[in-house]
Amino acid sequence: STVADFVAALPKVELHLHLVGSASLDTVLTLARRHPDGGVPTELDALRRFYTFTDFPHFLDVYRQVNLLVTAADVVTLVTELAADLAARTVRYAEVQVTPVRHRMGGVGYDDLAQALVDGRTLARERHGVELGWVFDADAILGPAGAEETVDFAVGHRPDGTVGIGLGGSELGVSRADFAPAFHRAVAAGLHSLPHAGETVGPGEIWAALTDLGAERIGHGIAAAQDPRLLEYLAAHHIPLEVCPTSNLLTGAAPSLAAHPLPALVAAGVPVTLATDDPGMFQTDLDAEYRLCHDVFGMGIPELAEIARTGARAAFCSDELRTQIL
Ligand code: ADE
Ligand code: ZN
Repeated sequence: STVADFVAALPKVELHLHLVGSASLDTVLTLARRHPDGGVPTELDALRRFYTFTDFPHFLDVYRQVNLLVTAADVVTLVTELAADLAARTVRYAEVQVTPVRHRMGGVGYDDLAQALVDGRTLARERHGVELGWVFDADAILGPAGAEETVDFAVGHRPDGTVGIGLGGSELGVSRADFAPAFHRAVAAGLHSLPHAGETVGPGEIWAALTDLGAERIGHGIAAAQDPRLLEYLAAHHIPLEVCPTSNLLTGAAPSLAAHPLPALVAAGVPVTLATDDPGMFQTDLDAEYRLCHDVFGMGIPELAEIARTGARAAFCSDELRTQIL
């Protein structure tokens, strides 16, 4: 269709994407067969079953079991495969969330991880024309100590392309506010604050991300639709939300696409960017998310183009690249 062709040719940025969750089924099988004792299925049918989520806690549980990165070479493989997938969707720039503490626990040392990210990023640019930035995210379940270790890595190693600090995992029983000291240290060192908030719990965690963590964008943030004062605040302060409809549907964060708040967020004047979160796990890609906005929410080409521009404005890329995308 006209819309599908428009989306396929549209230069895009992708601002909410997790490295491990981005691995295509093929890439997962390649890495799982490299390390068959890692607990990840090595056959396609079993992997598809493994990637069927019953609810959000189950999704997080599966996500944590996917330890595909054991060596620096695995990291380079995953980054370059991701870059190829992004290039195929005319994504020119992506900010990729990497969870260094998880990879350290899985066996990749911090020096190796930093070097592999630098090497992978160079290959992404040279082979695929895709520019990558890194967001080092803490898994909330590892508590403030895990966040401090994440900041130690981000600030201490600061591999080329380092953009910010993130916070993922569960919001239930772990307040964003608990991570304030780690985030303050990261921000003082010049990193951007890019936490998840308001994905599966109410707007209070988005307020906490803004006031306690100095959030400059919000991962998901869909709960903002429940709080008119928060919508006004996000619009007035130009705080973008990184909205991932397919992710929200498949993890149960949203009850249905029909009930998804994206149109309400846009109507309230909140800057909304579209993203995939974990495209390999959810079997989606950024073009599919744009097409979904047309098919389900009735957005036309001008609205889709505006979403893409919002993303380019919200990206922490060079102004030269931003101008090319805009
Ligand atoms: N890690 C990977 N995907 C995530 C999500 N959607 N929410 C929280 N943590 C995540
Ligand atoms: Zn996420």
